[in-house]
Amino acid sequence: MIRFEQVTKRYPDGTTAVDDLSFEVAEGELVTLVGPSGCGKTTTMMMVNRLIEPTSGRIFVNGEDIAGVDPVRLRRRIGYVIQQVGLFPHRTVLDNTATVPALIGWKKAKARARAAELLDLVGLDPKTYGSRYPEQLSGGQRQRVGVARALAADPPVLLMDEPFGAVDPVVREQLQDEFLRMRRAVRKTVLFVTHDIEEAVRLGDRIAVYGQGRIEQFDIPGAVLGAPRRRTSPSSWGPTAV
Ligand SMILES: Nc1ncnc2c1ncn2[C@@H]1O[C@H](COP(=O)(O)OP(=O)(O)OP(=O)(O)O)[C@@H](O)[C@H]1O
Ligand SMILES: [Mg+2]
Repeated sequence: MIRFEQVTKRYPDGTTAVDDLSFEVAEGELVTLVGPSGCGKTTTMMMVNRLIEPTSGRIFVNGEDIAGVDPVRLRRRIGYVIQQVGLFPHRTVLDNTATVPALIGWKKAKARARAAELLDLVGLDPKTYGSRYPEQLSGGQRQRVGVARALAADPPVLLMDEPFGAVDPVVREQLQDEFLRMRRAVRKTVLFVTHDIEEAVRLGDRIAVYGQGRIEQFDIPGAVLGAPRRRTSPSSWGPTAV
């Protein structure tokens, strides 16, 4: 469903963020990208919806080389939960959730009905929370709205960049539980970035362990836990590490 073929991203200042990366995410599969800060996870993700263009190599989504796909059309098929959530502060929770359906021309009532359904799905009662503004929510609730918003147009592909990164471990575990439950109901192809190896193992069908711009290991959770090819001191994995 998502395929990277020898993808490299070099920034104008000479930083190589992603180095000759090849991997594939099968349809309906959830792959977690885990690794230390600055190793190229967000860059990898943003190349899938063409917010960043690779320097070389090719990326395919659903068999199509995305270099030839109009970015706006591409992004309609790809839900995106950005690092730091990024809700619009001046829009209500309901309207934040309805952002993409509204953008792609759904009637207002239909977009809002869909948004209410999604808020319910992520555990936020739309009657209570729909009319609030993001600043009137807790960190965990905001992250749920970010997930609901990404699901609103029912895209087959989801990109999630540390979606549960900004909350304490207890809330994070709740969000993970809900996400696992939700995923059984709505089957998507997901690329999920995290700093947290426990989260990567818990949620991933397979795990890509990143080093600097490269995948060091790509395997099922049991194999990554059982036979790590690379030893990194947990303290170097950033504030959310375990
Ligand atoms: N516009 C840019 N110009 C130059 N270098 C950049 C630019 N954007 C990102 N980088 C560098 O590319 C590397 C990869 O960045 P990226 O955001 O992909 O890391 P990450 O793995 O998502 O890190 P984190 O876990 O902290 O979010 C970093 O060294 C970063 O400093
Ligand atoms: Mg990042």
